[in-house]
Amino acid sequence: MTQERPVWSSKLTFILAAVGSAVGLGNIWRFPYIMGQNGGAVFLVVYLFLILTICFVPMMAELALGKHTKKECVKVYEDVSPKLKLLGYLNPFTGVLISSFYFIVGGWIVNYIVKSLADYKITDYASYFSSFVKDEKSVIIYTLVFLFICIFLTARGIKRGIEFANNVLMPLFAVLLVGLLIFSLSLPNAHLGLEYMFKPDFSKLNGHMLLSALGQALFTLSIGMGALLTYGSYIKEDKSITKSAYTIIFSDTLFALLAGIMIFPAIFSFGLEVDSGAGLVFVTLPYIFSQIPHGNIFAFAFFVLLFAAALTSGISILEVSFATITERFNISRIKAATILFFGVGSISVPAVLSFDKLSNYTIFSKTFFDFLDFVTANIFMPLNALILCLIAGWCYKIKGDTIIKNVVLAKLFDIGLKFVIPVVLVVVLYMGLK
Ligand code: TRP
Repeated sequence: MTQERPVWSSKLTFILAAVGSAVGLGNIWRFPYIMGQNGGAVFLVVYLFLILTICFVPMMAELALGKHTKKECVKVYEDVSPKLKLLGYLNPFTGVLISSFYFIVGGWIVNYIVKSLADYKITDYASYFSSFVKDEKSVIIYTLVFLFICIFLTARGIKRGIEFANNVLMPLFAVLLVGLLIFSLSLPNAHLGLEYMFKPDFSKLNGHMLLSALGQALFTLSIGMGALLTYGSYIKEDKSITKSAYTIIFSDTLFALLAGIMIFPAIFSFGLEVDSGAGLVFVTLPYIFSQIPHGNIFAFAFFVLLFAAALTSGISILEVSFATITERFNISRIKAATILFFGVGSISVPAVLSFDKLSNYTIFSKTFFDFLDFVTANIFMPLNALILCLIAGWCYKIKGDTIIKNVVLAKLFDIGLKFVIPVVLVVVLYMGLK
């Protein structure tokens, strides 16, 4: 029996799912910490520039390829030439690698939800986080719980669940973020955080930062791993994708900026380290909540909403592998779920252990967790985006005027897709890895 392909029930469902895929831990957790490691404002300038110029093209190309072919991504590559099959597999493979650290961070969130419910007063925030991540048994359990929930929802089908999370929870999340941001701005020395975020020092510009900004831009918009291609393949033929792309870019950037303006003033006010890495938000947030009357309630609401945001993104990361496994091998969604649970889990466990027991084992002087994060966003995703642009432009001959109404933009898109963007991606990859 062949599996029936899913279809979005309405245009709105598709847009919401795509926005839900974009807005997630990438905005709240990854964006502040990568910006903190890359010099603040100057990173923000480069990041915004890349989002507004470079990212639009591969985003549209992915959506268009999905919409036109109605296939899962490996097949899209294979149809060009069987030799490209392996490159196609790089997409779900990247997805599995992303999942294996994304769900760990999701697990941390589950832990913070539980702690806020227990009215747990954390007094030493920095050491709370660093001792919690070393409590490997609990982290593994929380990670697997989050992974299980996400896989379960994805296995049930892409539409149910996503709609509720996006329709109701995301607007609520935006409101809560604005509230917390106003509070954060009222803290002493908040202006130092704003300066850090908005006053660029261009002498800090370098190739490594450029690649980090590109990696973050692709990661946060979910470009370069077949997720948008897969979501695009469930679109009914007559729907335009240009507006969807604008909506995704706009909402995603909004959430990232809100998160930044909430976090950085607090970091400077409490005298924390901006470049402390993956724990940054998880150390800073408890400080903020501890200063607010009834902070536990806000903490609970915040982490539940962040959980929902992570869920809708996690679903999109998993859906790529679901589509490939079910359609290529004609395996049911339930069996695919089991395969993915064990597959992702088996990479997640050593990644959790890399915070303590395996912390001495480093790859390019990064722990396994940091390595997974680095290699997916900064190497695999730009590489996948590069290959996709070339395939879409040269093999499928995706044309701007079939997807974009504005004539000038459509022409620019054609040139961008075939020449400019691939060259830029190669140059940034080269400069960043040199
Ligand atoms: N964009 C999501 C975030 O910001 C993460 C994500 C979802 C993703 N789907 C993806 C990243 C596909 C890369 C590829 O949290």
